[in-house]
Amino acid sequence: MTEIFDLVVRGGTVVTPGGLAVADIGVNDGRIVRFAASNTLQAGEVFDAQGLHVLPGVIDTQVHFREPGGEHKEDLASGAAAAAMGGVVGVFEMPNTNPSTDSVEALQDKLSRASGRMWVDHAFYVGATDRNLDQLNVLELEKGCSGVKIFMGSSTGGLLLEDDANLIKALKNGHRRVAVHAEDEPRLRERKKLAEEAAHPRAHPLWRDVDTALTATRRLISAARQTGRKVHVLHVTTAEEMQFLATQKDLATVETTPNHLTLFAPDCYERLGTRAQMNPPVREAHHQAAIWQAINDGVVDILGSDHAPHTLQEKAGTYPATPSGMPGVQTLVPVMLTHVNAGKLSLGRFVDLVCAGPQRAFGLVGKGRIALGYDADFTIVDMQADWEISDDWIMSKCSWTPYHGFKASARPIATIIRGQQVMRDNQLLGQPGGKPIRFQDTLGTMEH
Ligand code: DOR
Repeated sequence: MTEIFDLVVRGGTVVTPGGLAVADIGVNDGRIVRFAASNTLQAGEVFDAQGLHVLPGVIDTQVHFREPGGEHKEDLASGAAAAAMGGVVGVFEMPNTNPSTDSVEALQDKLSRASGRMWVDHAFYVGATDRNLDQLNVLELEKGCSGVKIFMGSSTGGLLLEDDANLIKALKNGHRRVAVHAEDEPRLRERKKLAEEAAHPRAHPLWRDVDTALTATRRLISAARQTGRKVHVLHVTTAEEMQFLATQKDLATVETTPNHLTLFAPDCYERLGTRAQMNPPVREAHHQAAIWQAINDGVVDILGSDHAPHTLQEKAGTYPATPSGMPGVQTLVPVMLTHVNAGKLSLGRFVDLVCAGPQRAFGLVGKGRIALGYDADFTIVDMQADWEISDDWIMSKCSWTPYHGFKASARPIATIIRGQQVMRDNQLLGQPGGKPIRFQDTLGTMEH
């Protein structure tokens, strides 16, 4: 008797752990259960993927969805809609909300706000503060928590751990990988006048200079070594840090962003003004070249978008009073696949950075690869689609993108999460059904 699967993704070029294969994928109960030759499996629902590439579901491990407290810029529902539209199946959301996500109650509040409203699977970071250092070992084990996030330099919101004593206390108290924004707060304070004098965002990489980033990254690695704690250095932006981090791979995983691989100074500040303002800054072309080198040398583990929307009204203020951050969760896949088509990295390396990399660094359960038994999460893309990204495609509340006018050569066609089609041909489908992401370190906190 012919077996009928819940869903078959038929005849796509599948990015498997072993390379590209044209195949059918059989899905039952939200999991991948069969691979077979193209056009051989039967199902209640068939997704015809012929001519398309089927990638493991893309995970964006750094987004700011601003809920609670910043809902005029974004919220969990709008941010997740943008993610699904951009081919992203899961997000790790940042704790610099208002109030900050720094307690059990705040984490539980986020999970309950997410339920029935988020289109994609999700996990939430808990922010370290000088008031919760003795609870971090408990907080990091909460259901749906992606671990602890530390801001060594201040950015949007009030979360900050600026001195080594507190940094070491935080790293001592727990086991999971800690994600860190590494900019040196004392140096930021000292140099802020440079930004004020210039009153133009072209001074952003001057204020928040290479030494601001490198000093913090060195302090972080020294603290990680003293405490034996593994860390994840978020949005690394300088040639100098990449050179240093290449020698610290036993402890540190490394993230960079599509913005730092695509935009460069001073061009981005002249073209986009404060829209291009983010922390740590987009820097000159030689840093960008070094980040590409680090991608291709394997130093970078993960690409995160650092999706951090602010409204155009807020961006219209006078620098440096303007907020830092750009939306990015929806543009990550098309921008990076355009780089793939341009020969800047292979498709396999892209999948390594946004699927296998998050799985490896954070111990995701059931995500990050197309393999039997894994969640049926797929980012289905057309690698031959010439189109222009524009503000009116953007689902984020802020309604703008730094990539307005960007000529893309690939696009997300469908987002499938645990066997459910969530986005197809630029339409969200069904109801938001995102669930908390599961982690190897906290499997005990989750129902199965
Ligand atoms: O540019 C940034 N914006 N960098 C951050 O670290 C925070 C983010 C935000 O929340 O706006």
